[in-house]
Amino acid sequence: MSEMQSGHIEAREVSIDLGNGKENFRAIDRVSFNIASGEFICLLGPSGCGKSTLLGALAGHIPLAEGCLTLDGKAIIGPSSERGLVFQQHTLFPWKKVVDNVAFGLKMKGIATRERHARANELLKLVGLSGFENKYPVQLSGGMQQRVEIARVLINQPRVLLMDEPFGALDAQTRWVMQQLLLQVWAHIRTTVVFVTHDIDEAIFLADRVLVMSHCPGRIREEMVIPAERARGEQWVTSDAFMHLKRDCLDLMREEHRLGHGAETASELAQQFAGAFI
Ligand SMILES: Nc1ncnc2c1ncn2[C@@H]1O[C@H](COP(=O)(O)OP(=O)(O)OP(=O)(O)O)[C@@H](O)[C@H]1O
Ligand SMILES: [Mg+2]
Repeated sequence: MSEMQSGHIEAREVSIDLGNGKENFRAIDRVSFNIASGEFICLLGPSGCGKSTLLGALAGHIPLAEGCLTLDGKAIIGPSSERGLVFQQHTLFPWKKVVDNVAFGLKMKGIATRERHARANELLKLVGLSGFENKYPVQLSGGMQQRVEIARVLINQPRVLLMDEPFGALDAQTRWVMQQLLLQVWAHIRTTVVFVTHDIDEAIFLADRVLVMSHCPGRIREEMVIPAERARGEQWVTSDAFMHLKRDCLDLMREEHRLGHGAETASELAQQFAGAFI
C-alpha cells in the first residue's frame, strides 16, 4: 500500500450560521487554525459545541457565513472525494458485497472491475478484513462495518480524512481495537486526519494535536500538543504523561462547563464526556 498524498488545511476567521429566519444563530464563531499536511488532529468538545458543523464545513456540506477554509490553498466550496468523510452511522449499501462497497468510488470513475477489485482487496487487507470480500454488510459486526467504511473512503485516495465520532456506536473493547487499527492504517497512508470526538482518552490517544472547542458559539478554546512518539499503544494510555494531559483536559472541560452552564457536578461531567472522567 503506497502512501497517499496529504493536504494542509487553513481556517481563517471562520463563522457559520445555522437555522432559518428567527431561529438563525451563530454556531461557529471566528475560528482559525492551521493543520499541516499529514497531521492527525482531534476536535474535542462537549455535545452541541459545533464539532460536526465545523467538520461539515470542511467536507464542503455547510456554507460559511464569514471567513475562509482552504485545502492546499484552494477554497473549500463543496464536497469532493479529495476529502473523505466517515460517520458514526453506517452508510454501506446493504445489497452490495463488501468488496463492491469498497470499490464503489472507483466504479463511479469508470475503472474496470478487475482493477477496482484488486485495489479494494488491498485496502481490505490494510483494515484487517481479508477473507470477508464476498460477505454482505449485514453479515459483519459493527466494528467490521466501520473498517469497510474506512476502506471505502480511502479508495478515493483522499488528501484529508474527516471522521465524525466514527467509533461512537461501538462497545469499549471494539472501540479500543479500532483506535489502534486506525493508527496502524494512518501510519501507512499518512493522509491528514481531522477526527471529531467528545472522548478525552480517544483524542489524547490518537492526535498529534487536540483542538479543544468551547460551547455556544463554538470556538477553539485551546490547542494541546500531544508529544508522544508514534507508534502508540497501551504503554501510552497508561503512562504518567497521558494522565497529566487528561487531567489538563478535564480541567479545561470543567471550566468550560462552568462558563457554559453555571453549574457543575462530577456526574454531569462524567455523562458529558463519556468514559473520560477520573
Ligand atoms: N441543521 C441545523 N439547524 C439548526 N441547528 C442545528 C443544525 N445542526 C446543528 N444544530 C445546532 O447547532 C449546534 C452545533 O451542533 P453540532 O451538531 O455541530 O454539535 P456537535 O459538537 O457535533 O454535537 P454532538 O457531540 O452531540 O455530535 C447545536 O446547538 C445543534 O443543536
Ligand atoms: Mg456531532
